Amino acid sequence: MKLSIPVAETIQKRHSVRTYEDRTLSPQDRAALLDYINQLDNPFGVPVKKYITDKKLSADGEKLGTYGVIKGASTFLGVSIPNTEMAPVAAGYEFENLILYATNMGLGTVWLAATFNRDSFASAMHIPKDELFPAISPVGYPAAKRSLTETLMRSTMKSSSRKEWASLFYQEDFRTPLTKSMAGAYAQPLEMVRLAPSAKNAQPWRVRKDGNTYHFYANYKPGISKGEEAIKRVDLGIALAHFHQTALEQGLTGTFETMPQEDVAIPENTHYIISWHADETN
Ligand SMILES: Cc1cc2nc3c(=O)[nH]c(=O)nc-3n(C[C@H](O)[C@H](O)[C@H](O)COP(=O)(O)O)c2cc1C
Repeated sequence: MKLSIPVAETIQKRHSVRTYEDRTLSPQDRAALLDYINQLDNPFGVPVKKYITDKKLSADGEKLGTYGVIKGASTFLGVSIPNTEMAPVAAGYEFENLILYATNMGLGTVWLAATFNRDSFASAMHIPKDELFPAISPVGYPAAKRSLTETLMRSTMKSSSRKEWASLFYQEDFRTPLTKSMAGAYAQPLEMVRLAPSAKNAQPWRVRKDGNTYHFYANYKPGISKGEEAIKRVDLGIALAHFHQTALEQGLTGTFETMPQEDVAIPENTHYIISWHADETN
C-alpha cells in the first residue's frame, strides 16, 4: 500500500525525538494514529501487530521504563511479530511507515529496540507470549530543547550523519560503486535508504544493482546474538519501506522477490535479505 503522505519530504524531515512536552496526545491525534495503524500492511506477507498504550493505563504499579533516555512522553507505540525469518523485516517496514505518518502529523518518535524495559511494556501492551517484541516508540509533541542525555547520545552515535553512496550502493559486483547517474530514476529511492534511521546509527544496508534488479543485504559482524541479528533485519525493513514508498511516490513499480545469489561474490559480513525487481517499463 502506498502511504497517503509526501514520502520523500517526510523522510527528510524525520529525526529521533527523545525529549517531549509534558502533555498527553490530543484525542484527535490519537484517533488519527489508530486509523493509520489499522491501514498498515507490508509486501512480505507477514502478519505484524501494532500497539498503542498510554503510560497511565499500564498494569497496577508497573513502571514503563526507558532508562532515563525518554523525557515527557506518555503514549507509546509497539510492534510484535511471529518468530520467522522475514518477520523482523516486515516489522521494520510497517512500523517505519507508522513513524512516517506520525512525523507528517508533526509528532515526534524514536525507535527503541534496546533502551526500554521489555517486560513491563510487553505486559502493558498485552504482547502474545509466543511473539517477538522487537521495538517500541514514544509518540508525542517534541520539546523545544533536547535533554542533555539526548544531545550526548546524538553526538556519540553521529546521528545527524550518514555514510556516502560509495560505501552503501554497488553496481553488478561489490567492487563498482553505484553513482546517482547510474541509478537513474532509482537515485531518489536509494537516497531515502541512505537517510534511514538504524539501531546505533550503524547503517547496515547495502544494495547491489544488477540490470532492473536491486538486491538488498545487511552488513554485520559474525558472533552477534539472535536478537541483535533480528534488529539488523528490522533496520533493513526500515530501509525497504523508504525505498518502496519513495519508488511508489515516483510511479516506479516492481515486486519484491527472493533471488539466487550464487553468481556473485558476496563480501564477508554481508547477508542477503531480498531483491526488488523493477518493472521493465520504468
Ligand atoms: C531498530 C532501531 C533501534 C533503535 N534503538 C534505540 C534505542 O534503544 N535507544 C535509543 O535511544 N535510540 C535507538 N534508536 C535510534 C537511533 O539511535 C537513531 O535512529 C540513529 O542514531 C539516527 O538518528 P536519527 O533517527 O535522528 O536520524 C534505534 C533506531 C532503530 C532504527
